[in-house]
Amino acid sequence: MISLSLLVLAAWPFGLALARPAPPLSPHLVVAGVPQYVLDYGMWQIDERPKASMLMLTSNNAAPLVYMDTKEVYFPSDLGAQVANTHPDINLTELPNPPSPLVLENLDALNAVGNGGKDVYLTSNIDVTTSPSWLEGVAPDSTGKTNQATSAAVITTDHGSGLVDAFYMYFYAYNQGNTVLGQELGDHIGDWEHNMVRFQDGVPQTVWYSQHSNGQAFTYKAVEKLGIRPVAYSARGSHANYAITGKHDHTIPDVNLPDGLLVDNTSKGLLWDPTLSSFFYNFHPADSTFESINGSPVQAMNFKGKWGDQQYAKDDKRQPPPFFGFYKYVGGPTGPYDKQLNRSKVCPDNGILCIVRDKLGP
Ligand SMILES: *[C@@H]1O[C@H](CO)[C@@H](O)[C@H](O)[C@H]1NC(C)=O
Ligand SMILES: *[C@@H]1O[C@H](CO)[C@@H](O)[C@H](O)[C@H]1NC(C)=O
Ligand SMILES: *[C@@H]1O[C@H](CO)[C@@H](O)[C@H](O)[C@H]1NC(C)=O
Repeated sequence: MISLSLLVLAAWPFGLALARPAPPLSPHLVVAGVPQYVLDYGMWQIDERPKASMLMLTSNNAAPLVYMDTKEVYFPSDLGAQVANTHPDINLTELPNPPSPLVLENLDALNAVGNGGKDVYLTSNIDVTTSPSWLEGVAPDSTGKTNQATSAAVITTDHGSGLVDAFYMYFYAYNQGNTVLGQELGDHIGDWEHNMVRFQDGVPQTVWYSQHSNGQAFTYKAVEKLGIRPVAYSARGSHANYAITGKHDHTIPDVNLPDGLLVDNTSKGLLWDPTLSSFFYNFHPADSTFESINGSPVQAMNFKGKWGDQQYAKDDKRQPPPFFGFYKYVGGPTGPYDKQLNRSKVCPDNGILCIVRDKLGP
């Protein structure tokens, strides 16, 4: 298997150098309404050495691919399961009469309460400290698919004049925070991460990797690829997306902790192809609306609340004492609508300089 995959890898540069199209080894993933290049250049996420069959599958299909870490426990997760395993809370109190049953197809009904939905938290039905198994998500199978779990949303923003951003949004039921001096900090239920590929006239230019409150941008040319698909490495537990394997220091800005205390780890574990089990949307920048493609539930994108529990109070017995002001359990995240889908640069506009690197780094 390994020698075959090396052969396939070795064959690639020749195919490109001769500018000869790869033979159609498997059909393209085609989704009516999604530009073909948005699928063809999607990210891989990684969790095991790529199998030869996967390389063949992807050699003529180029959306990003993601490697999970070899020691990952919390895998990509089904969006519908997140709703099924939770109930809506506001201010740590159950909503008296939520829509029933609450499903992705009516999730935005919660925008009618709690400050336009923003104060609504989808809250685990089972105490998180008992490690409910639904938080573990679904490990990608040998084809890279998260079976029975729609665990991604591909969202395309067309800015006009040939400029198109494709957001590959990855969903995990649980974020395990880093361990700092023996204390696990920053866990939360629900975790949205993403890559974005910026295209000009259907040709990929730059790639954004989300990491905690910011991330990194690289030229498409610089990033590792399987075939023509960019590769991302999902960090163990936190699922921050990096362009290479290894250790990644992500000391929090403005927080006075010594360097090297907060470290993400990435490695070539299981390979995830998020496009194989994903919802698809267009985002219209003129009026900030989502359009469903292929029957994907637009209500899930319109929901303005949080995809996991609110931060537990200091006196909640699930919450260990704070460590230098940091808590083990923090609040769940907002959804893709809150990731700056109408960007002027490949980076979000957050006051941090947008550097598009042409060399890979941690
Ligand atoms: C939230 O709940 C606490 C405790 O029950 C209460 O004191 C507080 O007033 C509530 N806040 C809001 C905004 O409802
Ligand atoms: C990353 O690896 C280092 C040691 O190699 C370890 O101390 C640290 O806890 C790891 N971080 C995570 C999030 O697993
Ligand atoms: C999207 O961005 C463009 C360019 O910066 C801007 O003109 C437009 O108003 C933005 N759309 C919204 C809804 O803010």
